[in-house]
Amino acid sequence: MKHLQVIWGKLSLSFRVMVGVGLVMALVGVLLITNIVRSDIKMEREQFSQRTGELLDSIRISISEMAVVGDYTTIRQMLRTRVTDSMLDKISWVDPSGNVISEELQGELLVAPKWFQELVGISPIMKSEAIEVGGTSYGAITVNANPTYVINRLYDRFIFGLVTTVAALSIMFAMIVSITSNALRPLKSMVAAARRIETGDYSVRIEPGGSREVREAISSFNSMAAKVNSLLALQRKLAGRMEEVREEQNKSIARELHDSLGGNLTMIKHGLDTLATEAGRDHECQPKIQSLLALSESTLQLARGLTSALRPSMLDSLGVMPTLQWYAKEFSRMTGISCHMELCQGVTCPKNNETAIFRIVQEALTNVARHANASRVSIQACLEDDHLVLEIADNGVGLPSQQTANGETRSLGVISMRERAQYMQGKLDISSAPGYGTTITLTVPVNQRGTA
Ligand SMILES: Nc1ncnc2c1ncn2[C@@H]1O[C@H](COP(=O)(O)OP(=O)(O)OP(=O)(O)O)[C@@H](O)[C@H]1O
Ligand SMILES: [Mg+2]
Repeated sequence: MKHLQVIWGKLSLSFRVMVGVGLVMALVGVLLITNIVRSDIKMEREQFSQRTGELLDSIRISISEMAVVGDYTTIRQMLRTRVTDSMLDKISWVDPSGNVISEELQGELLVAPKWFQELVGISPIMKSEAIEVGGTSYGAITVNANPTYVINRLYDRFIFGLVTTVAALSIMFAMIVSITSNALRPLKSMVAAARRIETGDYSVRIEPGGSREVREAISSFNSMAAKVNSLLALQRKLAGRMEEVREEQNKSIARELHDSLGGNLTMIKHGLDTLATEAGRDHECQPKIQSLLALSESTLQLARGLTSALRPSMLDSLGVMPTLQWYAKEFSRMTGISCHMELCQGVTCPKNNETAIFRIVQEALTNVARHANASRVSIQACLEDDHLVLEIADNGVGLPSQQTANGETRSLGVISMRERAQYMQGKLDISSAPGYGTTITLTVPVNQRGTA
């Protein structure tokens, strides 16, 4: 029963309506036909026996009238005519001298199948009557009545009823299919539209149509999709703006670090150098001066490192590709993971998206260092159909199994990579198999001249 319920639940609505209505109609049809055939059979059965009796009577009267005058030729002729005109198969008359005069007809062929004959249940009838006029016997008359004709007629009616019911059911099924598929069409387009929204295409809208209720549902769906679309556009805009503000801040902090801190430290270093020269090689202050010199040098290096981490200055001067090549070398040096960057010929980068692209690669490499346990990572940048395609592939452990390629994550790195990609009207795909490393593919549109 449970299985049936599950199967029933999986069937389409039009099919369920068809099965439901079809079963009711078939039941009604069967009941109607049975009822009609049953009452027909009853009537025919009664009439068959009654008609046979009537025929026998009328033949007996005719024979007695003619036998009185001894007109046997006319009797024979009459028997022949009667057997042809009636439903009788055979009429026999035994005259007073014992002579048998009979007329037979090749009965009609039975068309109805055996089960129908049994259902109808009308058997052949043989009736006899003695002929007597004024106390004188003129023999006896026997008639054989065959129900074949009656059964065939009933069977014809039954077949006609069946064909009519089947035709009516077929027409009704066709109408149900057409009505339900018309009514469900908007629902199907809503499902298709919802699937497109699921894949990130929020521009999808459904053509209004169908009944009032369906039109209302479509209009609500369309306005919901429009709202989600505009909210996402706003979110992207905000994310972009935040990115710009963050980069501006990074830039100004890096500038301050470089100009003020770096400048002051350089001055201190020069001052200490002069002091060391003036104090002379063997002066007792010399060790202190030298340690201060070493301290200022290491602080200067630290400030440079911080400046570069906040925003590599070469990003503005040389562009993203040379910066990435430099960063790949730095990454190798710092982590010991071999990092190679390959640039396809003629590849250029959208100018206004350079920072975002750099940050995406930076986060991808940070993740390789933190999570991948890889020995090698390769970066490849190529131009494909007006799109910059950047691929970062490592040979590490791959993403944890519960984390799907494009699935949700609570950490921010992947989320911000995706946001940056979306802000550039591009997309970010992550593919990974446990034990086979991770590949991150960034696709960003560029115009004909290679800029955004
Ligand atoms: N190259 C990689 N190899 C293996 N696992 C990775 C790789 N990159 C990301 N992951 C997995 O994906 C998760 C999400 O990465 P994501 O950068 O979003 O977060 P995180 O690095 O853990 O934290 P943060 O928000 O500081 O970046 C990681 O925790 C890690 O499990
Ligand atoms: Mg991360």
